[in-house]
Amino acid sequence: MAGRDRRPIHILVFGASLRRASLNNRLASLAANVAERNGATVDEARMADFDCPFYDGDREAAQDFPDGVHAFCRRLKAADAFIVASPEYNASLPGVLKNLIDWTSRLRPQPFNGKQGFLISASPSMVGGNRGLWALRIPFEHLGARIYPDMFSLAQAHEALDKDGRIANDMLQKRFEDTIRCFLDLVEAAKHYPGLQKQWVEFLGERPDKATDRVEVNDTEAA
Ligand code: FNR
Repeated sequence: MAGRDRRPIHILVFGASLRRASLNNRLASLAANVAERNGATVDEARMADFDCPFYDGDREAAQDFPDGVHAFCRRLKAADAFIVASPEYNASLPGVLKNLIDWTSRLRPQPFNGKQGFLISASPSMVGGNRGLWALRIPFEHLGARIYPDMFSLAQAHEALDKDGRIANDMLQKRFEDTIRCFLDLVEAAKHYPGLQKQWVEFLGERPDKATDRVEVNDTEAA
């Protein structure tokens, strides 16, 4: 990696489209490649790895979580951070992704809490799916994930990637790599140099109530 050795960090890179020829899955592979070249270990995942039916409160009450949800939770817990490449559907996030987030959010401990996340998207449109990422921020941040302020959205993505899976425009490719490197620096700092104590209260400011409170305190001591 450029500059200096990195202390160990493990990143889940998740392409959140079911489509075989998905642009977002291709962008996820590129992000995984950049992360590896910058000293991270990577677990590359696809939406197809986490097949699950619509969220059903009766199944949850019976503790009958779909296998895909457990699989996603396991891989998320094993990672220090996640990168999600998500399509934009109708100016928002895809229903399949929201469904997986909803199921996963019902597990305890709640696995998004305290995870660093970076959001990317690709779309044939001029906005590159960026509106979907703003929508995707909301459930993640609600669940206590620390979503990186910068996001990367590849516009006209059907023409923007070359045959090797890189972004054909060199300056855009460099911006993509620089942003991922900065994100990895933050992940490394959060894991190995923790000055942060994090408490997640689902409805911070609401009158405390044992019956409805969802509160988790993270121990961010270095591993
Ligand atoms: C889309 N698409 C789309 N694109 C966009 O930029 N903004 C949008 O709001 C939408 N809306 C939308 C809705 C639905 C139901 C579909 C199926 C598609 C186009 C979409 O970005 C395009 O199909 C991408 O290629 C999908 O991502 P993957 O599967 O290539 O990763």
